[in-house]
Amino acid sequence: MSKYLAKHVASLKPSGIRKFFDIVATMDDVISLGIGEPDFTTPEPVLQAGIASLQRGETHYTSNSGRLELRTGLTDYIAQTYGVSYDPVIEMVITVGVSEALYLALSAVLDPGDEVIIPTPCFVSYQAEAILAGGVPIEVPTFAENDFQLQADTLEAAITPRTKAILISSPNNPTGAAATRAALLEVARLAEQHDLVVISDELYDQLVYGVEHVCFASLPEMRARTILLGGFSKNYAMTGWRVGFAAAPAALLDGLMRIHQYTIMCAPTTAQDAALEALRSGRPYVERMVAEYDRRRQLIVSGLNQLGLRTSEPHGAFYAFPNVGASGMDEERFAQLLLDEERVAVVPGSAFGTGGAGFVRCSYATAYEQIEEALQRMEHFMRRHG
Ligand SMILES: Cc1ncc(COP(=O)(O)O)c(C=O)c1O
Repeated sequence: MSKYLAKHVASLKPSGIRKFFDIVATMDDVISLGIGEPDFTTPEPVLQAGIASLQRGETHYTSNSGRLELRTGLTDYIAQTYGVSYDPVIEMVITVGVSEALYLALSAVLDPGDEVIIPTPCFVSYQAEAILAGGVPIEVPTFAENDFQLQADTLEAAITPRTKAILISSPNNPTGAAATRAALLEVARLAEQHDLVVISDELYDQLVYGVEHVCFASLPEMRARTILLGGFSKNYAMTGWRVGFAAAPAALLDGLMRIHQYTIMCAPTTAQDAALEALRSGRPYVERMVAEYDRRRQLIVSGLNQLGLRTSEPHGAFYAFPNVGASGMDEERFAQLLLDEERVAVVPGSAFGTGGAGFVRCSYATAYEQIEEALQRMEHFMRRHG
């Protein structure tokens, strides 16, 4: 570690996922359930829109906020789908994925030492991004017994006079939990009572199975204190394009814009043009992908439960999150031995925060037949270790 690094940077732990997958990359015949992105390629009309944009010579910066047509497309989508209105001119910024939007939101609202409550298990970047933004991440666990729903009592117990914000995500990576309206109303009550900003990561909003996605900003009185984050990576199988957005009331969004314009300038132009096409013609493709994810979801959840690896039903995203207690191992050892002995890669739940201890993440963004084969290999594994 270089002595020149800033202390808050030197304090960041390397991602638990990266470490594990560096090892996986060196091995043959591995079935990976570790992947956190769609196995589908981007829908054809979206690819073509990206190519056409380049061929038209659209190789320049866009406005700092992003293409107005794209912002308008997104604000129309949010208004029509969730009944929340944003002004595309002053209440939306197009970002380099939700990753950038998260960083902007946290940096814009946290003063040094301010606390942000982060329910875990959660996406691996949340804690690190909070630290980089100068804040203090306060992890609060969610529990399998409760289908990983947010719980008002545990959240409330973590609130202190330094709490400025709460960072929630639904559907959730890695648990697949889709927050219920009732659970979110409880979060809303706390936010109101303690005057908190709510950063709501809704990147997987279209990937839900038989439940409604509840947009946090649509709850009574919540638009004013919510920074809504979303994007194209997961819904439209566009992870490599790097397009996301943040929407918030103008005065809040102005803070995000100040950081964005000096650090990023604008999201990639080609990718913005492709994203606009995804909004225009992507829906049938999303529906087909969701139907296929759902088929795989049913296979993997029933398969894991049959092996004694207790798995709550995930209602969103493309992850199953089994408890590995029946193997007698902790999640790190389970993932390591399963890889060594059966060549199946899963991600230890502790990579997603303290709430993930005892679990592993199995992504079903991989072919149905691969999941069948992975389950067979896991059956052999559990026969030896169960
Ligand atoms: C919950 C969640 N938020 C944000 C991200 C980052 O997404 P993006 O590709 O839009 O930067 C991910 C990626 O896995 C995620 O799972």
